[in-house]
Amino acid sequence: MEIRIFDTQEEIGAAAGKIICEFTKNNPDCVLGFATGASPVPTYNYMIKQYENGEVSFENIKTFNLDEYCDLPRSHKNSYYTFMHENLFDKIDVKEENIGFLDGNAEEKAESKRYTEAIKAAGGIDIQILGIGRNGHIAFNEPSDEFTGESYKVELTQSTIDANSIYFDDIAMPHYAMTMGIGLIMESKKIVLIATGDKKAQAVYDMVNGPVTPKCPASILQQHSDVVILLDKEAAQKII
Ligand code: GLP
Repeated sequence: MEIRIFDTQEEIGAAAGKIICEFTKNNPDCVLGFATGASPVPTYNYMIKQYENGEVSFENIKTFNLDEYCDLPRSHKNSYYTFMHENLFDKIDVKEENIGFLDGNAEEKAESKRYTEAIKAAGGIDIQILGIGRNGHIAFNEPSDEFTGESYKVELTQSTIDANSIYFDDIAMPHYAMTMGIGLIMESKKIVLIATGDKKAQAVYDMVNGPVTPKCPASILQQHSDVVILLDKEAAQKII
């Protein structure tokens, strides 16, 4: 694991954004994995700026997102599909037909198979952006007794509901989501994980220094050969 610590979220966004933009310049038809949540937003802002400045084109990339809520229409303002369009896809030249998303309202097994095959057909994910939950979850892989494999439907924990329900002002936050499993995430060729703020400090400590255990799903990243972890000082406070 390569760990880099920064002063501001903008610096983290620039660091992650540079990794993505440089790779895309050299590999215009690359496959990028994106995450939702607040953590990657500065990264997306950096990518948008680079695109607006004519430094990079995303016209030929393919994308796959980590997860999506169940029991929520794709058009709802809180769907991850909407989030990604508002925060990135609508502001760059990625083609809509090249955007891959789990359907949180599809039949679980068939949807999982479809997504794994779509990622495989695209050649696998070159760079996967990740955030981390306060309880060490990645995507929506909550702490559990075993590491997960491909995509599946998960019941969200109270910790995740508490953290994410602030975004839901018109309806109650869904309690289920479809998520890429740990096995699928680990197949990404490179992983860039972003964590900011003191609420992530314990999860960051467990991810980096703890045992590799499904009780802290992010700890599996210790076994990936190409992981970059970008932190601010608050998130890094227990490891420095
Ligand atoms: C959600 C997402 C995760 C994300 C996490 C942290 O649970 N499913 O992919 O990493 O939130 O979000 P934030 O970056 O807003 O703290």
